[in-house]
Amino acid sequence: MTDTGDAIAVYVHWPYCARICPYCDFNVVRDRGWREEQAVLVEAILCDLEAQAALVGRRPLASIFFGGGTPSLMRAEDVGRVIARARALFPGGDVEITLEANPTDAEAAHFAALREAGVNRLSLGVQSLDDAQLTFLGRNHSADEARRAIAVAAGVFDRLSIDLIYALPGQTVAGWTTAMAEALAMGFEHVSPYQLTIAEGTAFARAAERGGLIPPDEDTAADLYEATQSVLGAAGFEAYEVSNHARGVSARSAHNLHVWRGGDYVGIGPGAHGRLTLDGVRTATVAHRRIGDYVEGVAAGTPWSEQERLDPRAAAEERLLLGLRTVEGVALTDLAALDLTALVEGLVEDGLLAVAEERVVATATGRPVLDAVLKALLT
Ligand SMILES: C[S@@+](CC[C@H](N)C(=O)[O-])C[C@H]1O[C@@H](n2cnc3c(N)ncnc32)[C@H](O)[C@@H]1O
Ligand code: SF4
Repeated sequence: MTDTGDAIAVYVHWPYCARICPYCDFNVVRDRGWREEQAVLVEAILCDLEAQAALVGRRPLASIFFGGGTPSLMRAEDVGRVIARARALFPGGDVEITLEANPTDAEAAHFAALREAGVNRLSLGVQSLDDAQLTFLGRNHSADEARRAIAVAAGVFDRLSIDLIYALPGQTVAGWTTAMAEALAMGFEHVSPYQLTIAEGTAFARAAERGGLIPPDEDTAADLYEATQSVLGAAGFEAYEVSNHARGVSARSAHNLHVWRGGDYVGIGPGAHGRLTLDGVRTATVAHRRIGDYVEGVAAGTPWSEQERLDPRAAAEERLLLGLRTVEGVALTDLAALDLTALVEGLVEDGLLAVAEERVVATATGRPVLDAVLKALLT
């Protein structure tokens, strides 16, 4: 049993990007303006949505999330069609509908149409408000362009989140603190500061191997994390998850909370991950990553390249990994298959975990060392 009841969320992956960033290991392809291919993909997405809805039945809609890639490059009309289809298949009221956007002038010009199509929350990939850092990150927008996009988005959407990337080579606590202060003056309800990850197979990983990119050492990274917590906390943004800060409970992302609480979600689009309860068994799904394979797979009734029935231990481990990242923690009953009582007691004594109302949560001391806490629990 999860905290999310019968509700189901919808994740839609749009893989196209105007430019591929050197740090990104998401399932992305460069947008070459091939509108026919994109029109075919939209039809496949609609068809996949119908097929998965038939599989899981008519359940209440929790939320919709358009991620990517760069879904702000989708035609607003297509976004509207996907939303309408999801609403028709899963009954729901006024649910949160988020779309990820890149902060270019061209995309900002499109925000009102996306709002009109039904999107009610925008997640803007600002990453930095410093031109040198944006160049280093290989972004296709300037800091001024990002500032303009934030202003446009704030005028169009009641609910606005921005993503920032920190722990860049050479970044100091003072520099990051000033950067956050500038961003925080711009008016949004939610911010996701992500520590730069050097992901395998990316251009940054190759540069790091050659010694051309040196990320901050562990101590500096820990100091930058601490600065993030204190600056955002002082500005009224609560860290309700390790990398997600909201100004008040209503500003928390309903979609992400649904996922972190162990709720079911259909993953639609190339490479999208889903979690479905099928015949009473929690099942992990991964759609074909290549656009052509996905389109063919959907047509053949086989959209997934992977489908794994999670045994109770694997399902409980996943609940633990996600739940401990949040202020809500995880219900002890969800962890029954793992038999963690003695280990949890030890970590409570160490001040890294706390147990209250039959839930276990990571403490302020435990959160920065969550990887080590999880390792202690799971190995
Ligand atoms: C998959 S991207 C989609 C959003 C949009 N395409 C963009 O780039 O603005 C979602 C977010 O993941 C974060 N991200 C992606 N790769 C990352 C990495 N290697 N390290 C840290 N954050 C990363 C960025 O902050 C980005 O905004
Ligand atoms: S970070 Fe965003 S824009 Fe850059 S390649 Fe990844 S998904 Fe595309």
